[in-house]
Amino acid sequence: MQIFRARILDTPTDPFTGGTLRSDADVALVVDAGRIVARTDFSTARERHPYAEVVDLRSGVLLPGFVDTHVHYPQVRAIGHLGKPLLDWLDEAALPEESKLGDDAYARAVAHEFLTGLTSAGTTSAMVFGSHFASAVDILFASAAEVGLRMTTGLVTSDRNLPEVLLTDVDRSVTESQELIDRWHGRGRLRFAVTPRFSFSAGPELLAAGGGLVRDNPGIWVTSHLNENRDEITGVAKIHPESRDYLDTYGRAGLLGAQTILAHNVHPTDRELTRMAEVGAAAAHCPTSNSALASGFFPLRRHLDAGVRVALGSDVGAGIGFSLLKEGVQAYFMQQLDPAGGVPLTSTHLLHLATTAGAAALGLDAEVGDLSVGKRFDAVWIDPAAGQPLDVGIAYAGSDEDALAKIFALGTPADVSRVWIDGELVKG
Ligand code: GUN
Ligand code: ZN
Repeated sequence: MQIFRARILDTPTDPFTGGTLRSDADVALVVDAGRIVARTDFSTARERHPYAEVVDLRSGVLLPGFVDTHVHYPQVRAIGHLGKPLLDWLDEAALPEESKLGDDAYARAVAHEFLTGLTSAGTTSAMVFGSHFASAVDILFASAAEVGLRMTTGLVTSDRNLPEVLLTDVDRSVTESQELIDRWHGRGRLRFAVTPRFSFSAGPELLAAGGGLVRDNPGIWVTSHLNENRDEITGVAKIHPESRDYLDTYGRAGLLGAQTILAHNVHPTDRELTRMAEVGAAAAHCPTSNSALASGFFPLRRHLDAGVRVALGSDVGAGIGFSLLKEGVQAYFMQQLDPAGGVPLTSTHLLHLATTAGAAALGLDAEVGDLSVGKRFDAVWIDPAAGQPLDVGIAYAGSDEDALAKIFALGTPADVSRVWIDGELVKG
């Protein structure tokens, strides 16, 4: 048993529907076997648990662990290739790199780099876009099990419009996926997601095979891309003439539900938003990627008005790093700049998007997302070096919201001093 004594900021209530930032200047979390069993003042906690180890975190700020709802494992080494729209970027940067993951030694090295990137940035839960190679996905699952990451991932599938080495077919995709499901889904913090790359590289039969896996394996997840880029959308319409829109390519295949997370959705139709809300599918908003690839402005207002759940994704490697602090501040910038009119975001909205909203999108909201009693202790300790601009900013902030805004504006993985998942230290 441990007592974590800290200044804590979290968002147990949704700021998009009237919730506010919860801030406690000096509070004690009593953690037993990874779960928060009490949240109280320090002297009460100490009195009740005189033999518990005390971890004094008062020099920094404790936040819930970040939840990244869209990040690509095989793209760590492709981050930072700027200046191209989606389809050119895939051809020039992402796909050549992803083609190398067929080599197990290479995949092992990349898995290590990937997990280091996530945990160093304070990400404790993630929906991870896997690899086209089943062996590389198996390696990722095994590596994540060692690190302890709360991870959902799967075999990426495509049967057209990609380099030959990344293509599969219906039978192989089902056999390989089922093997991975049997081996990993539900093991510890790991879960499987059916992952067609996007409907530009997957025909109706391959998508339907994914839907069959969902039917046969209740509880597994689905993730893919949606409405990211105009040329992509035009291409999808040609490949799927029977579908009424991009979302319908997934809907017809049995891939749409409350356990579906679709990345980007920069250019949705009203029907697609209505349908996503009806089935409870979530959108992973990836602001640095949308900027880097010039994909466009994410219509957050339309998503909220339609009742679609939205969370944040780093979209590494089109996104320019693992930090959800950076994604948060980029979301804020782009909402401000959107010529169609964005949603004014406060630091409380950003924290919600990076934590509780992600936990809800991943169906993990009973477990993580804030630091309430009953939740698992997944947490990030922001403790900048003395005298650094963030340290000074937090010290002189006029309010808790202001201190949180400084964390988003100035915080980097270097300021993430410690990270816990289920009470286990994974960084620090
Ligand atoms: N659409 C299909 N594949 C990808 C990818 O790797 N990154 C992004 N941003 N969009 C995609
Ligand atoms: Zn992506």
